[in-house]
Amino acid sequence: MALKEEAVLTVDTMNSNVKEMQYAVRGPIVGLAAEVESELENGQDKPFKEVVRANIGDCHATGQHPLTFLRQVLALTVYPDLFKDPNFPEDAKLRANLVLDSCKGRSVGSYSESSGLKNVRKHIAEFIERRDGYQADMNHVFTSTGASEGIKTILHLLNCDIDGKKPGVMIPIPQYPLYSATLVEYAMPQIQYYLDEENHWSLDMAEMQRAIDEARSTCNPRAVVVINPGNPTGQVLSRQNIESIIKFAHKERLVILADEVYQHNVYDPACEFHSFKKVLTEMGPEISANVQLASFMSISKGYMGECGLRAGYFEVVNFDEKLLMQLNKCISVKLCPPVTGQAALECVVNPPREGEPSYELHEKEKAEVLDGLKAKAKLVSSTFNAIDGISCNNIQGAMYCFPQVQIPKKAIEYTQSNLYKVGVDEIKITPDEFYCFELLKKTGLCVVPGSGFKQREGTYHFRCTILPEKEKFDVVMEKFKKFHTEFLAEWQ
Ligand SMILES: Cc1ncc(COP(=O)(O)O)c(C=O)c1O
Repeated sequence: MALKEEAVLTVDTMNSNVKEMQYAVRGPIVGLAAEVESELENGQDKPFKEVVRANIGDCHATGQHPLTFLRQVLALTVYPDLFKDPNFPEDAKLRANLVLDSCKGRSVGSYSESSGLKNVRKHIAEFIERRDGYQADMNHVFTSTGASEGIKTILHLLNCDIDGKKPGVMIPIPQYPLYSATLVEYAMPQIQYYLDEENHWSLDMAEMQRAIDEARSTCNPRAVVVINPGNPTGQVLSRQNIESIIKFAHKERLVILADEVYQHNVYDPACEFHSFKKVLTEMGPEISANVQLASFMSISKGYMGECGLRAGYFEVVNFDEKLLMQLNKCISVKLCPPVTGQAALECVVNPPREGEPSYELHEKEKAEVLDGLKAKAKLVSSTFNAIDGISCNNIQGAMYCFPQVQIPKKAIEYTQSNLYKVGVDEIKITPDEFYCFELLKKTGLCVVPGSGFKQREGTYHFRCTILPEKEKFDVVMEKFKKFHTEFLAEWQ
């Protein structure tokens, strides 16, 4: 019998950065949700009938219907025999043709240019021009495998030690964990700046100054990440706030990474989305000609919610030709983002126009999604706010809220001296994890503990999406109120 040799690659000999990396959105809470679901399937008696997944911003997974026009164009590009079908509207055929005209061999099965199909990039640039009222250069636009990959590409470019110091990146706290995870993976220092919870999670410039001043002794600050509208915090930044950040980036010589994937998701009538590109362009030549910006967009969010098609784009500003060449080289190693995703992206940046056959239905479907999200944003934040011991900023935009919850001292102490059973494992957990795990077990509502997004020491939060269907929320929110009251009574 052959003896088993020691494997070359084991957890002891793998990349330690990967081991250190954490990604809360798919953390232990997801394992627990699956466990509870299988208990329900096996007929275990529980005070709820299903798990309501409010843990991840995956719109279609929580019941949102795909947009007809987008899926028609996708179907036509994938299976061109459908061009003969008279049920497909002419404008869908026109868009599908535009995509196929850019594909080698007129097939989405061929590689595209690494930066993306020419027609798609041209229409992205036109979309940005219509949005901002200023010129956009398609050679400064790159499609990507979701916004995530674009963000990782730019962080990768920034990863350079200067004068023996590592490159630091300013990230908001709380933040979307792609940033903290990628920085750990690339061994780049995180410079954490806290958002102002008392002020609608806005960016406080004094706090940003504190963060960068403290970091200078240990690293070389090179970039600042801003998420607008915010995940997990649901705020929409004012134009004044954006101007202050741009001035700060200019003064401190930082590249701005503007994560604008929720640009279509603004619900509060008092708020408006202002793109960093537009505000930067309007700030006078000393700033607009110098501050470097990369802004990111995705088809996973907005009214499209096409997370699984994996497509997005980024636009870079004030990147010189030599840097653009290096950026092109860097992405060319990955060949290209999925071409089917690029076809879907085409529909977002070049939607049906007034007078075209698909226009009315497309506008109706888009409004239905956004109106539904707006109504749920109000329902969710007002329900949380009405509960003693929970405070929640209004959801101005994006798809989440991040309520603060007062966890009794006794419950905190319990987590410090006890392990928690998840599946076959017994794990050490934080007080907010304890709260969320118990919530899931007693109500079926699955939310993500705040510690996964980071939060001010001594405060506890959770992130709840506004995506589940309203009928499900109505039921689960009633259960939530009862759970919270009982949790306080048990641990007070
Ligand atoms: C703020 C933010 N940026 C980026 C992403 C990644 O999006 P994509 O699916 O396009 O990679 C997400 C996904 O939830 C997000 O919330």
